[in-house]
Amino acid sequence: MARFVVNGKSVQVDVEPSTPLLWVLREQVGLTGTKYGCGVAQCGACTVHIDGQAIRSCAMPVSAVEGKRITTIEGLAQGGKLSKVQQAWLTHDVPQCGYCQSGMIMAVAALLQQKPKPTDADIDAAITNICRCGTFQQVREAIHMAAKA
Ligand code: FES
Ligand code: FES
Repeated sequence: MARFVVNGKSVQVDVEPSTPLLWVLREQVGLTGTKYGCGVAQCGACTVHIDGQAIRSCAMPVSAVEGKRITTIEGLAQGGKLSKVQQAWLTHDVPQCGYCQSGMIMAVAALLQQKPKPTDADIDAAITNICRCGTFQQVREAIHMAAKA
């Protein structure tokens, strides 16, 4: 049994404590915007926020998030209004296949919380998500746009 808050809603799930948070979000909670890529904390496709920090949920046992506040891509827009990161993504037409993008956006949203005006070096250090479509240049431009919004 684990209890936590997802996108402002309390959730209680009956799963093995070692079950990765990613699977609980997708299978038990029904939020499939968070993606499975590598399963070993390398690619970032599964990135969500736990108490405001960007975390790779494939490597996070659900027992470790007891009582914590989780935000997924589905919870990033507020009151029907896209976040500034999502808006910049649209303006720069960032996604290609889109598979990596929810994790990318969540990582960027957490970066901008911590560093509202990141340099290219800050971006390189913080955004280590892998995009097989190679959207890295558009990602960088969209981050700088979101930082100015
Ligand atoms: S699926 Fe979690 S980092 Fe790749
Ligand atoms: S947009 Fe296709 S993997 Fe990133």
